[in-house]
Amino acid sequence: MRIAVIGTGYVGLVSAACFAELGHTVIGVDIDEAKVAKLKTGVPTIYEPELEELLKRGLATKRLSFTTDIREALPNTTVVFSAVATPPNEDFTADLRAVYAVCESVAKQVDHDIVFVNKSTVPVGTGHTCEARIAAVLAERGVHFRIPVVSNPEFLREGSAVKDTMAPDRIIVGVNGDAWAQDLMEELFAPLTRTGKPVVFMERESAELVKYASNAFLATKISFVNMLTELCEKTGANIRDVAKGMGLDDRIGPRFLHAGIGYGGSCFPKDVKALIATGRHHDVPMPIVQAVHDVNQRQRMRFFQKLLNVLPQNGVVGIWGLTFKPKTDDMREAPSLDLMEMLTKQGFTMRAYDPVAMHHAKQLVDDAVQFVDAPMQAVEGVDALIVLTEWDEFRGINLADLPKVMRGRHLFDGRNIYDAREVRGVGLQYHGIGIATEDMPVAAPQTPAPNTQKVPTSRS
Ligand SMILES: NC(=O)c1ccc[n+]([C@@H]2O[C@H](COP(=O)([O-])OP(=O)(O)OC[C@H]3O[C@@H](n4cnc5c(N)ncnc54)[C@H](O)[C@@H]3O)[C@@H](O)[C@H]2O)c1
Repeated sequence: MRIAVIGTGYVGLVSAACFAELGHTVIGVDIDEAKVAKLKTGVPTIYEPELEELLKRGLATKRLSFTTDIREALPNTTVVFSAVATPPNEDFTADLRAVYAVCESVAKQVDHDIVFVNKSTVPVGTGHTCEARIAAVLAERGVHFRIPVVSNPEFLREGSAVKDTMAPDRIIVGVNGDAWAQDLMEELFAPLTRTGKPVVFMERESAELVKYASNAFLATKISFVNMLTELCEKTGANIRDVAKGMGLDDRIGPRFLHAGIGYGGSCFPKDVKALIATGRHHDVPMPIVQAVHDVNQRQRMRFFQKLLNVLPQNGVVGIWGLTFKPKTDDMREAPSLDLMEMLTKQGFTMRAYDPVAMHHAKQLVDDAVQFVDAPMQAVEGVDALIVLTEWDEFRGINLADLPKVMRGRHLFDGRNIYDAREVRGVGLQYHGIGIATEDMPVAAPQTPAPNTQKVPTSRS
């Protein structure tokens, strides 16, 4: 099948390359000329394991091509995917300008029936608005084409995006009663369904909501564990053991129970906010989702406060890891950005290292941050080391080397990757998340106050 993918960012580029790998003929469209020029030469514009190989193979077999001109992409194309960004507005709503721009430009240029698929994460009801906007453009042109709008939310994770696309847990497709669109989507995903991956068809509104519900639920697990970290620190419990104990319960599962400095990235923060905004728009309270967001904000501030509590004024800190998680170069909403901004404002200087994202990070931060080429360079002469991303590279470091080059003795482990005893064993003070610091007095258990309240006698 010949398909077009509009927007060749983290989602669009991976989708385009994977669809080509699965045997479809794919043209990727992007308004960013520099990006398209690079992609045409087979150089990936993002860091994503396995992507380069697919990109090169797609170009070599001519099943994959790129353009900046949507008019080149539409002839003979049956399905158009839109994978443009939907960033958060100040009021938490999703910015849908790019989504609407894409559906209107398709409607302006198309000269045949086509299925328009929204792969972007969009609030429930957006597909309906897209359909109305497309119809308005066609009416203005005085033409009539069948252009059903389908929702196919994306669940890939940066860092394993190719694997997730080629072997998804499920493919969600929202089609509102258009049999032709449903048949085409079935045909498109046949290479995956043949290997047993389920395509689940549902109403478009449900598909749009599945994406937000899934991300908000995963973020809830993270915030739930993060909420417990403060209690662990005050009581002497260790969040790693608590989470392990919880996660071994089949009903709970171990994933997304890792305590840390809070979730970041281009999806969880914005999707949690957008779900809150959608609830507000429809006058439906979202108290759990609001709490997930609040806990996440508090977690970052708590970490920052802990740093201020022990670091000398105008100190120097080393930072390991800048991205919101390993195996990606995405810096969107990375906790490191907030932290570096706060530390800069407080007069600190920083030496930072990240295995893949330094070129992005350099454009986003102040002069107070010096970027270095190796982890050990980042700790030379610093008062504290702060670990913000759990890159494997940092797990393998010989901790005994740290005190030899550091000025101070503090290790802030924002991802709980080190063993507290091992860090202490090399002469550093360990500050984990949800792990009591050695010299911190553990709060005595509360003795319950005598119950002076009357036991209710009637049903409450
Ligand atoms: N990044 C992820 O891990 C991920 C995972 C699942 C879902 N999503 C969702 O997928 C969508 C895309 O996210 P992303 O991270 O790939 O965004 P991105 O910013 O990496 O990519 C968007 C691309 O669209 C291009 N673009 C913008 N307007 C355009 C237009 N009018 N015509 C053609 N190209 C245009 C941009 O130049 C950019 O290359 C978002 O809604 C996001 O929430 C992202």
